[in-house]
Amino acid sequence: VEWHASLPSTNTHLAERVKAVPGAPAGTVIAARTQTAGRGRQQRDWLTAPRRNLTFSFLWNAALEPRHVPSMAQAISVGIALFLQQEGLESTIKWPNDVRVDGKKISGILCEMVNTGSPGQTAIVAGIGLNVNMSVEEAAMIDQPATSLAIKTGRDWDVGAVLESLLNALAGPLNRWASGGFAEIYDDYIRHAPEPGTVLRVRDGGRHVGGVFAGFNPHGALRLALDDGTERTFYSGDLSVE
Ligand code: BTN
Repeated sequence: VEWHASLPSTNTHLAERVKAVPGAPAGTVIAARTQTAGRGRQQRDWLTAPRRNLTFSFLWNAALEPRHVPSMAQAISVGIALFLQQEGLESTIKWPNDVRVDGKKISGILCEMVNTGSPGQTAIVAGIGLNVNMSVEEAAMIDQPATSLAIKTGRDWDVGAVLESLLNALAGPLNRWASGGFAEIYDDYIRHAPEPGTVLRVRDGGRHVGGVFAGFNPHGALRLALDDGTERTFYSGDLSVE
């Protein structure tokens, strides 16, 4: 693990390194005590309280078919849920990969493909933000309900030690995912998903589509049963529970 005091974004930093140094080793982990320009899914910002939260990225060279790539972040979300469980916290996964405790976001994941120039190898920079020591006041500044390990447990955590434990928890789900894609993590993922029959709303581009949760397809895409009797499958989007 390479720690930096401050970086604009660990994802951007690692992606630039991969492009500059072909053959950068898989498993390289870049962590920053502070991120000044953290990025989230769907072109959003990722705000973190300086030095108080965990922000890191690691490099993965998947020899997997490209169709499996989108579910990598779902495998990571399973690993984060496992870590939280080991620390005594139950969590849910808001499709595709927001990890929540008591309905409030504690962690976000941003996986980005990087062109390495070598055919047949898909390099993925996987970035994770986990709220560790963020206070209630800091959480209130985020544009959606957010929580942290400290808020949930009433004590401060050692951010470096959290990273070590989290990396250990990620190894199992990630290796299983690498061997066969979403199917390999399905059982663990579904355990943290909404109950079948839950009414959901997906924002897909500018449109909202409401329907009843009907499970996931073999690649981790969300299936929604619509009022008109048809079913729609979403490969990306934002989910809200009505
Ligand atoms: C999301 O929920 O929208 C994803 C957030 C991902 C944030 C992490 S923090 C470490 C890495 N570097 C970034 O710029 N983003 C990811």
